[in-house]
Amino acid sequence: MSERRVNETAPDQPKVVLGVGGGIAAYKACELLRRLSESGHDVRVVPTASALHFVGEATWSALSGHPASHEVWETVHEVPHVRIGQAADLVVVAPATADLLAKAAHGLADDLLTNTLLTARCPVVFAPAMHTEMWEHPATQENVATLRRRGAVVIEPAVGRLTGVDTGKGRLPEPGEIFDVCHRVLARAAAAGRRDDLSGLHVVVSAGGTREPLDPVRFLGNRSSGKQGYALARTAVARGARVTLVAANTAVRARA
Ligand SMILES: Cc1cc2nc3c(=O)[nH]c(=O)nc-3n(C[C@H](O)[C@H](O)[C@H](O)COP(=O)(O)O)c2cc1C
Repeated sequence: MSERRVNETAPDQPKVVLGVGGGIAAYKACELLRRLSESGHDVRVVPTASALHFVGEATWSALSGHPASHEVWETVHEVPHVRIGQAADLVVVAPATADLLAKAAHGLADDLLTNTLLTARCPVVFAPAMHTEMWEHPATQENVATLRRRGAVVIEPAVGRLTGVDTGKGRLPEPGEIFDVCHRVLARAAAAGRRDDLSGLHVVVSAGGTREPLDPVRFLGNRSSGKQGYALARTAVARGARVTLVAANTAVRARA
């Protein structure tokens, strides 16, 4: 049966953690989640307690196919405060509130999202959203500068309608724009991760079993399938080598 369970993850699916802060724009993260999931990413949502005032746990769980806890004290045997961050290929926080930016900049870890931000070794994208005064405050600006200096991508907020009647800089960029940034950051990380350490080398690999003639009709052979030789050749190509594969007596079919 080929039916796939909702939260079953294909091994090559990029794992994205979507952190959601307690801002009025939290509802827009649903659209970001949908775009990430539909484009083949395995998305785990980690909302903060404040975020759940805006969009509930049921929405995040149903849309992502994963539990969406905000605290470190659930499923403790799975050590989620460490594992979620360690396993991630990308963490994106949208909306990133002033409070979350401050916690991230100072390394605080009082809930699941802030723990995840400390354990992640993958690229991190922040999409801030807040009132103009909060965004322009020197504390927030210093926190943003700190995060950028450490390598995080902090997207500039958009200008437009904010909570209530206010207008100005601090609006969450559109989900499509955040998605494009995530896509670019993931692609860049994947390209950087590709190893080219055999570049410039010519590697000769022999694959398949040998046959020693005993007489014109009989030979002494072995059960070599050739699979290992083909695998070595493919790996050498992937690592940048020029490869000559010498294959004999194998049932493995050559692929480019
Ligand atoms: C209706 C409402 C809207 C809010 N919107 C924002 C916002 O857009 N950005 C922000 O930084 N804080 C906003 N806040 C304040 C945050 O919710 C508050 O600072 C909270 O502690 C942030 O929690 P977090 O760290 O989980 O994001 C809002 C609060 C309320 C009540």
